[in-house]
Amino acid sequence: MKKAVYPGSFDPVTYGHLDVITRAARIFDELTVSVLNNTQKKPLFSVEERVKILEEATKDIPNVKVDSFSGLLIDYAREHDLHVSVRGLRAITDFEYELQIAQTNRKLSGGSLDTVFLTTSLEYAYLSSSSVKEIASFQGDISQCVPPFVAELIYQKYGHKM
Ligand code: PNS
Repeated sequence: MKKAVYPGSFDPVTYGHLDVITRAARIFDELTVSVLNNTQKKPLFSVEERVKILEEATKDIPNVKVDSFSGLLIDYAREHDLHVSVRGLRAITDFEYELQIAQTNRKLSGGSLDTVFLTTSLEYAYLSSSSVKEIASFQGDISQCVPPFVAELIYQKYGHKM
């Protein structure tokens, strides 16, 4: 069985992430989307909230599981017998950062964890969770960036009504 993990902050999940999830779920038999519990960042949504949002957003894709992790990805991957990490590449600006993470993970895991990159569909190439949050904080329109229920939750966090 071909299994993979798609790690990330997902604060919150965007249509760009969902595009990667949908496509990766067609390639692998089982895809675990795992939310990083990063104590150094101050997220808009708690890990539990992000997991719930992802579960709802992926509920129609049967081979997708949602989980969370703390610490190093290679340790999480080893504990769950996962050997492929999926990451989305939006533009050349993502490449250097992603290449460094991929090579670090491969080296640190002794070759056990490899990374597969999916190029984000062009229509979502401009999207990032950070810009979605910034637009929402000024009550801008994020309907093209995230599913409606996610948009509502983001506006709620900023004290706005939809
Ligand atoms: O959505 P993001 O924030 O771009 O995801 C980054 C992520 C979670 C893939 C990366 O920060 C990560 O795997 N962090 C866990 C810590 C780790 O394993 N670091 C070593 C690789 S540099």
